[in-house]
Amino acid sequence: MDADYLFNQTVEYLKTAQHVVISTGAGISAESGIATFRAPSTGLWSRYKSGELATAEAFKRNPSLVWGWYTWRRMQVANAQPNTAHRAVAAMAQCLPHMTLITQNVDDLHERAGSQDPIHLHGHLATARCFTCSQPYLDTLPIVVDPDAGPLEPPRCQHCEGLIRPNVVWFGERMPENEMKRARIAAFDCDVMLSIGTSGSVAPAVYLPTIAAENGAWVVHINLEADSTAPGNTLIGPATHWLPKLAQALLSA
Ligand code: APR
Repeated sequence: MDADYLFNQTVEYLKTAQHVVISTGAGISAESGIATFRAPSTGLWSRYKSGELATAEAFKRNPSLVWGWYTWRRMQVANAQPNTAHRAVAAMAQCLPHMTLITQNVDDLHERAGSQDPIHLHGHLATARCFTCSQPYLDTLPIVVDPDAGPLEPPRCQHCEGLIRPNVVWFGERMPENEMKRARIAAFDCDVMLSIGTSGSVAPAVYLPTIAAENGAWVVHINLEADSTAPGNTLIGPATHWLPKLAQALLSA
């Protein structure tokens, strides 16, 4: 479908939508300098082995390696700024009757751009809990990694002395039930879904566009490349190109 036609159709659907879902992946934070996961050569999983860094077994095997890697990622996010795509998402929420923001990202760039209550399907880098008793860790988390300081040991739980782990969902772990339920209900109910910057590699987020499309929603992906496997059409290009244009069209409607 021609990009201009798809863009204009999407604006028309947004103008009349009673409920819009925006679902984001790592691609929306890429232009803030946060590495995506599967980009060739620069993606995190092309440089690191997810099995050595993003599983409970990896943490048990080498807690300081895993804690240090997540502290490095937390430092990346702390040094980054929300980009115009994050800000456009926050602006669109102000001029739509009902918008649900769902993200696979564990950064806080949506919140720092002004979005309220994004549904984090994969957790948050900014918070942590005890690996043993799951009590929240309330002290400030480090955002500095000094390579000369040797391995960065995770802090200990004030309640049981267990090791503190990041509050992110690791491979093989259950998704947060409440967040998943909210996301599924929103995908089922929405009139328009914008799926932004995700490779659609990970369940259950990958099913959200299908749930929306099967219930009659207008589904549009915004990505650097078309995704022939997911329902809907793709506005090809950076999130920072298309989202501000969509927000502007809505604001001037
Ligand atoms: N604008 C729009 N899309 C972009 C941009 C950009 N500027 N830059 C990259 N993309 C697209 C890529 O083309 C790719 O399709 O974003 C997508 C990023 O895909 P992934 O790196 O696989 O990230 P994501 O889909 O969020 O991964 C899902 O996998 O490993 C797990 O927990 C991790 O939450 C993550 C999940």
